[in-house]
Amino acid sequence: RAEAQEVASSFDFAEIAAGVDETHHVADGYDADVLLRWGDKVLADAPDFDPMNQTAEAQAKQFGYNNDYVGFVPLNEAEDRGLLVVNHEYTNAELMFPNFAKVVTVTEEKDGQQVETQKVEIGEFTKELVDIEMAAHGGTVIEIARDENGKWKPVLDSQYNRRITTETEMQLSGPVAGHARVKTNADPSGTKVFGTLNNCAGGLTPWGTWLMAEENTHGYFGGALPEGHREELNYKRMGVPGGWYNWGNFHDRFDVSKEPNEPNRFGWIVEVDPKDPNSKPKKRTALGRFKHEGCETVVNSDGRVVCYSGDDERFDYVYKFVTSGTYSESDPATNADLLDDGTLYVARFDEDGTVEWMPLVHGEAPLDEAHGFASQADVLIETRRAADLLGATKMDRPEDVQPNPKTGKVYCMLTNNTRRKEGDENAANPRADNAFGHIIEITETDGDFASTKSTWEILLKCGDPSVAEVGASFSSATTENGWFGMPDNCAIDAEGRLWVSTDGNSESQTGRTDGLWAVDTDGEARGTSKLFFRVPVGAEMCGPYFTPSSETLFLAVQHPGDEGLATYEQPATRWPDFDDNLPVRPAVVTVTKQGGGKIA
Ligand code: FEO
Ligand code: CA
Ligand code: CA
Ligand code: CA
Repeated sequence: RAEAQEVASSFDFAEIAAGVDETHHVADGYDADVLLRWGDKVLADAPDFDPMNQTAEAQAKQFGYNNDYVGFVPLNEAEDRGLLVVNHEYTNAELMFPNFAKVVTVTEEKDGQQVETQKVEIGEFTKELVDIEMAAHGGTVIEIARDENGKWKPVLDSQYNRRITTETEMQLSGPVAGHARVKTNADPSGTKVFGTLNNCAGGLTPWGTWLMAEENTHGYFGGALPEGHREELNYKRMGVPGGWYNWGNFHDRFDVSKEPNEPNRFGWIVEVDPKDPNSKPKKRTALGRFKHEGCETVVNSDGRVVCYSGDDERFDYVYKFVTSGTYSESDPATNADLLDDGTLYVARFDEDGTVEWMPLVHGEAPLDEAHGFASQADVLIETRRAADLLGATKMDRPEDVQPNPKTGKVYCMLTNNTRRKEGDENAANPRADNAFGHIIEITETDGDFASTKSTWEILLKCGDPSVAEVGASFSSATTENGWFGMPDNCAIDAEGRLWVSTDGNSESQTGRTDGLWAVDTDGEARGTSKLFFRVPVGAEMCGPYFTPSSETLFLAVQHPGDEGLATYEQPATRWPDFDDNLPVRPAVVTVTKQGGGKIA
């Protein structure tokens, strides 16, 4: 087996062992250094992290919680200085706030029996705690540079450093801007939104802006819609109000009984110019409203820009957006509002191996008045319902969708779907009770990313290949460390090779933590996977982002310590500080090769 792997894999590194422990691990010959942790200074005048006395004001100047997407915009040719952009997807109150959560024993009825179980009970939310949560969401722009030892360090006095939070003023742009369905008491113009929510993955555009994908935005809303409100069906399809947070108790806009239109102002792709710290982020409504996992872009051969995005929900869809205008390398003004005008398509994966990209354009049946769509704005606000009507293929939770500019292929991470019943399988989602997910490879016709008819095949069915019932399809050269479940994010390196990170592997599920795996897609090695990095217990692996030269890899360790009965006082690990006086902290890690060179 080991011999077969030597022949097969196009990756040189020595694979690490899969497993579970309190810290991270990277392949021999590489350094993995913690760069930025929750609470670290982003702005020069931020106070030192003091978790026992945290305030919203301090948090708004410090690195936020649960780092997810990571991107890097070089500021010089040497790539030793640049802007790191990071999404802060959500908060874990039980791990953030001291003396807030505790483990309690409760008696529950199970199958007619009284059973004692332990669970984590959360304390009472105050406005102060909610405001800290709101300030810990959003994103960070921070300049980083390599020091004399080649180590990446934040540049705290940089003019570019910026925190984006739930309070940052943003502009709603594109077809939905100013529409009646996005007007609120606080914003009668329907164009001025405060903040962004649940920014999961994202992307960088060819012109160096950062796309933050708003994913599970339904969770932030509470209250009940007024009876017979026109958004009833729309919100039901999006799960609004989700009631995951208590923000509506302190801020009217998160209570749909008071501000019924506010949820329509979230669920978009947000474009941020990291090189202009005073710029107003723009919510690009032309790209649709759903639970965007990410938004990865590629310049097509004709100059148009194509953006891929998955809707992360069981039985939801894969989308792409093709701009009307073309990208200009020399004229930034041409690119400034490119994302406001174009065509959004949803994918139908047919049994014969073709993908039909179906346009979501108002006016043609069924996206017309008869079906409740009076304009393109209506189609975009209710993207999911429009896609339902077109008969898009119901997928097993689409996460990252990544084009490979070198090959014309596109990789769709489908993380899992245990609610798919026997009989409900389709060719593109072939497993019922799909606990471990799969990866689809789309081949855009003749390398034309704007193509409306493409082909697809399954690259990998994930899970343990040694358990026959799982039906995994890793190559036989894949070792017992090399397989994974639950693909989530991915990246393409400078050589055009695929790297996949995961969300949901654990001791009990797969006998391993999440991590980053290198996956061969071509030739004899196709379907061979090798483990390069693994996270500490409880964490999910986010980020992966390679600098253009592939000499640095940025990784985001999200929600470390969040396993079992985890609280601030008793997390499953105290990574990365391992200091009893500090909480476990999500952090961004840099990976570099010892002695320099490409990550291989
Ligand atoms: Fe935030 Fe789809 O994971
Ligand atoms: Ca994700
Ligand atoms: Ca990606
Ligand atoms: Ca996920």
